[in-house]
Amino acid sequence: MLLRKGEIVFRQDEFGDQAFLIEKGKVEIFHTHKNGHETHLAVLTEGEIFGEMALIDSNVRSATARAFTDCQLLPINKEQLLDKLDSSDPTVQMIVQILLNRLRQQNLSKSGITLENMPETETKTNVVDRIKLENQINDALQNNEFILYHQPIIEFSSGNIIGSEALLRWESPQKGLIAPGLFIDILENSSMIIPVGFWIIEECFRHFKIIEKQIPQNKNISISINVSSRQFSNNNFIKNLKSLVDKHQVSPRNFKLEVTERVMVDAHSIIGTLDKCRDMGFEISLDDFGTGFSSLQYLSRMPIDYLKIDRSFVINATKDLKTKAVISAIIYLARNLNIKTIAEGVETATEESMMKSMGAEYGQGYFYSKPVSFENFLKII
Ligand code: CMP
Ligand code: MG
Repeated sequence: MLLRKGEIVFRQDEFGDQAFLIEKGKVEIFHTHKNGHETHLAVLTEGEIFGEMALIDSNVRSATARAFTDCQLLPINKEQLLDKLDSSDPTVQMIVQILLNRLRQQNLSKSGITLENMPETETKTNVVDRIKLENQINDALQNNEFILYHQPIIEFSSGNIIGSEALLRWESPQKGLIAPGLFIDILENSSMIIPVGFWIIEECFRHFKIIEKQIPQNKNISISINVSSRQFSNNNFIKNLKSLVDKHQVSPRNFKLEVTERVMVDAHSIIGTLDKCRDMGFEISLDDFGTGFSSLQYLSRMPIDYLKIDRSFVINATKDLKTKAVISAIIYLARNLNIKTIAEGVETATEESMMKSMGAEYGQGYFYSKPVSFENFLKII
């Protein structure tokens, strides 16, 4: 959009739903006083963005923008900007808020408005709690307070334990064993998931080396490792995974990487990453199938080896004929695509026999064993 020198782009205190990139020319930003007096704040030039503040903090325009010379502007809509911010780390979001508040206050003080009549800044307690917990998670990693439990996975046809899913637990010296529900969510949404995620992979490799040494007849056991979508989409994921394989000299065919459907939705280059993992020898397991963004298309498009049917489906299959029909069809489809099925959260004999009869190959759940410490896992395999 083209503006002549002196034209107003938007006025202070209006609501706005666009920001602007200056493609050519200059834009002046100034504060307007009640008496019409203006306080100059800045002149912005080519390549700079303005009008972003009102979109980000859903507040009114902090200042007026006027073409300083003839200029050409490229509008940026709210969604374009906010989508990017929403998908960023909560801490980054908080920092952006703080910087915007600071800038608004600075502008006001430049315009001679005193501290007493400045708008109050919002305190975001949940963000503060989050940062505290993130710091504790960081300390927990440094102090070796994380441990991995194993929940056995059973092969229906033989009844044997063929592997386990490794599950993170936090053993805090002050608070005892902390349930994953209290920290996994925060962990997965923070940058801490990257180092903790690699710690998990490494610990699984160490555990496997112990199994291989102590129980050589069980060297075909396979450990399932949960990989969060944030970790999986990280640019260095493949490189780091490879160096851990080299460091511990393990064979990737003894491990499954469990990814959720979120991974499929989030990353564009996901198929490439999955293929690279498989080329290294890892198997891929699609976790929590049936919750969230389930799409049968994933089954045919994604390079996966296993499908984990979510606990909620397993319970309902014994209660509701329609759910049963859906699961039965999914298992049938998976089989035809060469994907094996693991029923999650099997708690009763009825659930087991139903999943078996529908063609699922493996089961995991309290019916066989709850998650146990590695020490105890060694005793039962
Ligand atoms: P917004 O509050 O949406 O509308 C006014 C815009 O002016 C604001 O977004 C920023 O893009 C810009 N702006 C505000 N204060 C300053 C400043 N002190 N220096 C440069 N640009 C500013
Ligand atoms: Mg899992």
